[in-house]
Amino acid sequence: MTEREYSPGLEGIVAGETAISTLAGGLSYRGYSIEDLAHHATFEEVAHILLHGDLPTADELAKFRKRLGTQEVIPPPVLETLRRIPVKVPMMDVMRTGASLLAHWENEVADNSHDANVRKAERLLVQLPILMAARHRLLQGKEPVAADPRRSFAENVLWMLLRTQPTPAMTRAMDVSLILYAEHEFNASTFTARVIASTLSDLHSSICGAIGALKGPLHGGANERVLAILQTVGSADKAEAWVMDALAKKQRIMGFGHRVYKDGDPRAAYVKTMCREIAAETGHTPMEDLADKIEEVVWREKKLPPNVDWPTARLYHYFGLAVELYTPLFVVARTAGWCAHVIEQLDENRLIRPAANYTGPGRREWKDISQRAD
Ligand code: ACO
Repeated sequence: MTEREYSPGLEGIVAGETAISTLAGGLSYRGYSIEDLAHHATFEEVAHILLHGDLPTADELAKFRKRLGTQEVIPPPVLETLRRIPVKVPMMDVMRTGASLLAHWENEVADNSHDANVRKAERLLVQLPILMAARHRLLQGKEPVAADPRRSFAENVLWMLLRTQPTPAMTRAMDVSLILYAEHEFNASTFTARVIASTLSDLHSSICGAIGALKGPLHGGANERVLAILQTVGSADKAEAWVMDALAKKQRIMGFGHRVYKDGDPRAAYVKTMCREIAAETGHTPMEDLADKIEEVVWREKKLPPNVDWPTARLYHYFGLAVELYTPLFVVARTAGWCAHVIEQLDENRLIRPAANYTGPGRREWKDISQRAD
C-alpha cells in the first residue's frame, strides 16, 4: 500500500457531515447563531433544537418540558450504588459509571431506532444532572434534593446542588453556560460518541465513551484546572510573573488555545461578560481582574486567546459550586449535543474506520524462543 496523506490529530480533516452545528461564519446550532441562542433561548429550547431539529412552538415546548419533568428521577438501585462508590472516586468517573448504570434500568436500551433514541436522549438529559447532584450531596453527608418540575432545567441544576434559591441572574448565567456548552461540531468527545454509535452499539455506550473523552485536560477537564491556576496565582499583581514562568517551563496554560479557534472562542467572550456581572454580585471582582491580567499576558506572549473553559470555571466558582462539578456540568450540557450526533450518525450510518500509515518494522522472520537474544 502507498503512503496516504496524514494530518496528526486529524487536524483540518473532514471526517463526516452534520446538520447539527457549524463553526463556519460563527458558531450556530441548526442555523441559529449562538449569540441569538445565548440572548433569547433557554437550555430546554436549545435541547429541543438539537434533538428534534428546530425551535419548539409554545405547544411543543410545553410538551417537551412536561416529558422532561415526568422523567426527573433515577432508579433507586442507581442511587443505592452512588452511596457505595468509594469517596475517593472522581466525579467524572462517577458520571461515566452513572451513564452506564442508567442503561441497566433503561427499557429501550437496545432499541436503536430514531424515535427510541430520542426518547432515551430525553431521559438521559434529565437523569445525568440528578445523578451528579445526588452524588455530590451524598459526598457532603447530605441527602439528595429531588428535582422540582416547576423549575427550569438550569434552575433545577443549581437547586439540586445548592438547595438554595438562585438569583435570577445566576439562573440565567447557568442557562447560558449550559447553552454554550451544549454542542460543538466534531470535537473529541462528540467524535468518540459517533465512532461508538457507528458500530451499531447503543446510545448509552456512546455517552459513556464521550464522558471518558471529555474528562481529559485537553478537552472538558480543562475547566477544573483553570480554577487551580487562579487560586495558585492568587492576585493580579502576581499574574505576569506566573505566566512568564509557566511559559518558560513550556507548561500548557489550561483554558487557553483551541484547535479550531485561533483568534478567539466566541463562547468565551460571551461567558466573560456574565462573569463580571456575577462576580460583582458575589464579591469576586478581584478574581476577574486576575483573569484579565493572565489573559493579557498570555495573548501578548503567545497570541493564545482564552477558550470557553477559562470564564466558565470562574462563573461556576462564583455560583459557589465545588470544582469537581465543573466538568460534570459540561457533561450535563453536552449530553444534548452528543445524543443529537449519535442519532444523526445512526440515521445515515457508515462504520467509522479510518486507516493508518504503518511506521513499525518491515517483515521479520519468526524466531523460536531458544534463538532469541536475552
Ligand atoms: N498554553 C501554552 N501553550 C499552548 C497552549 C496553552 N494552553 N495551547 C497551545 N499552546 C502552544 C503549543 O505549545 C504550541 O506551541 P509551539 O508551537 O511553541 O510548540 C502552539 O501553541 C500550538 O499548539 P498545538 O498543540 O498545536 O495546538 P492544538 O490545536 O493542538 O491545541 C489545545 C489545542 C489542545 C486545546 C491546546 O490549545 C491546549 O492544550 N489548551 C489547553 C487545554 C484546554 O484549555 N483545553 C480546552 C479546549 S476547549 C474545549 O475542549 C471545550
